[in-house]
Order: sequence, then structure tokens, then C-alpha cells
Amino acid sequence: MLHFQQINELKVALKNERECNKTIGFVPTMGALHAGHLALIKRAVEENDICICSIFVNPIQFNNPSDLEKYPRDLEKDYKLLESAGCHMVFVPDTKEMYPKPDLTQFDFGKLDKVLEGKFRPGHFNGVAIVVKKLFGIVEPNRAYFGEKDFQQLAIINQLVEIEKLPIKIIPCPIVREKDGLAMSSRNVRLTAEERLFAPNIYKSLLSIKQNFKIENTDELIEHSKRNLNQIQGMEVEYLEIVDSKTLLPLQNDGENKDGISVLIATFLGKVRLIDNIRIEEKH
Ligand code: PAJ
Repeated sequence: MLHFQQINELKVALKNERECNKTIGFVPTMGALHAGHLALIKRAVEENDICICSIFVNPIQFNNPSDLEKYPRDLEKDYKLLESAGCHMVFVPDTKEMYPKPDLTQFDFGKLDKVLEGKFRPGHFNGVAIVVKKLFGIVEPNRAYFGEKDFQQLAIINQLVEIEKLPIKIIPCPIVREKDGLAMSSRNVRLTAEERLFAPNIYKSLLSIKQNFKIENTDELIEHSKRNLNQIQGMEVEYLEIVDSKTLLPLQNDGENKDGISVLIATFLGKVRLIDNIRIEEKH
């Protein structure tokens, strides 16, 4: 696997590949890689001639300084995992390389970045969009892979590609979970042993909402699940909402949500903020 830290060097290497008609699959990450990331990498390896992963803990998408500071970092382990998944190139820029001067772009995503995560993490998606646009400009991939774990982020990226008219195919990848159902996340390592035991209740509550879902009883269902979760020690639900899978807005009263219906949750468990989601109705 080739390592790059400089944008210019990476661009030259990728240009050479493109001139040999090689297709490029790109997986942006913030490192602390786990099986969820590796599923994206493996898919990019399968579907493209070249798979490139970026590892960059993007400071401007963290609205909580302690979350940025505590973000787990283990580059040597990441490199081994990437090698074993068959990744060809890794791009590990430092902050000066990515932001020689502050990038003040303000994107307009309409309502999409004001709801759910957007309400609780103001500026987060603007920071994600800035870094992803920049990375797309450097890598110019044919395909880019994003996990459904970050469901709203995926919607933002789809909109970014549309607004900027980028010739990149965005490939959504299913959530990879631990055996007990907890969605894999780099933040899971920060849970205490006790919190880790409670954590699978998040997915359990999503499954229970899916099983009991009726368009007429959404409010009670949500309140009931929130109450149950909040009773668990250390659990503090920020939001738990049933929404249209495309707009991420509350359901139409007539139940006509042709893009499908999803449930999204963000909750603190102790000091760690976790997110998860599930589709309860597919597109029709
Ligand atoms: P990060 O949290 O490192 O995630 C990188 C990619 O891995 C994202 O597309 C995310 O959705 C996916 N991913 C994480 N856990 C997953 C799981 N359990 N199952 C499936 N996919 C999973 O998301 C980011 O980094 C950043 O915001 C980034 C896009 C790199 C911009 O800085």
C-alpha cells in the first residue's frame, strides 16, 4: 500500500492511474478503523481498479472540542487493517495540508442540515461537506463509499454531489454491527465495560419500533421507547425520530412516504454520543 501525505504527490499518482484507464474507488474516513470501515474498503477494492482511503480527523466538523481531542487515533493499526483489506493507497494529510487557510464556505442544504444531527451539532455538516468536497477535488474518484450508519451524512453527500454537479457515484453501504447489534463506531472504545453492556439496547429499541410501527401510533411508540431508553443508567436520548428516508423530515400525515421511512437516534451513553438508524419501510 502506498502512503501519501502531500496533496500534489497523491494527485500525480492518481493521474497516472487514470491515464491507464484505471477506475478509482474512494473511502474517506477519520481513522480508528473497524469492520464497518473495512466493509467499505473491501467493496471499493472489488468494484474499482484502485482503492484509496483517506484518514483525516477533520477539526472543523467537531463542534465539541473535547470530542475532537478524545477522538481515538491509531495509525499503525489502521495501516495494517487497510493492507489486509487490499487497499492500494492511503492519504493521511495533516491539518495544514488540508487547510492552509481557513475555508469559510457556507453550503445551503435547505432543511437537510437543520434537522436531527443538524439541530444538536450546528455547523457539523458544513464542516463535513467542506472536507469531502476538498477530498473529492483531490482524489477525483469514480465512486465514493459511505456508510448508512451516518444516514444524514449520506443524504448531505448526495446533495453535495447534486449541487456541485460532481461526476462521482456515491455508493451507500449497509451498517455493520457487533454480534449483539451495537452499530460499530470508532467511539465505542470509549464506553466503559458497564456502558458497553447497556449499549445494545439502542438497536433493540430501533427493532422494536420497526416491529410495532403503524402510521397512526408513531408518537406513542417514540415516547415509549425514549422513556425505556432513558431509564437505563447513563443513557440520555437526544433525539429519536421517525422520518422520511430522503428528506429526513417528519412523516406526511397520509403515510405517503414514497422514499421509505427510517428511524434515527442519537443518544449519550455516559460521555459518549452514539448514533444509529434503521429503515422501517423501503421505497415504493
Ligand atoms: P468516519 O466516522 O471515520 O466514517 C467513515 C465512513 O465509515 C463513513 O462513511 C461512515 O458512515 C462509515 N462507517 C462508520 N461506521 C460504520 C458501520 N458500523 N457500518 C458501516 N459504515 C460505517 O464519517 C466520517 O468518518 C467523516 O464524517 C468523513 C466522511 C470522513 C468526513 O470527515
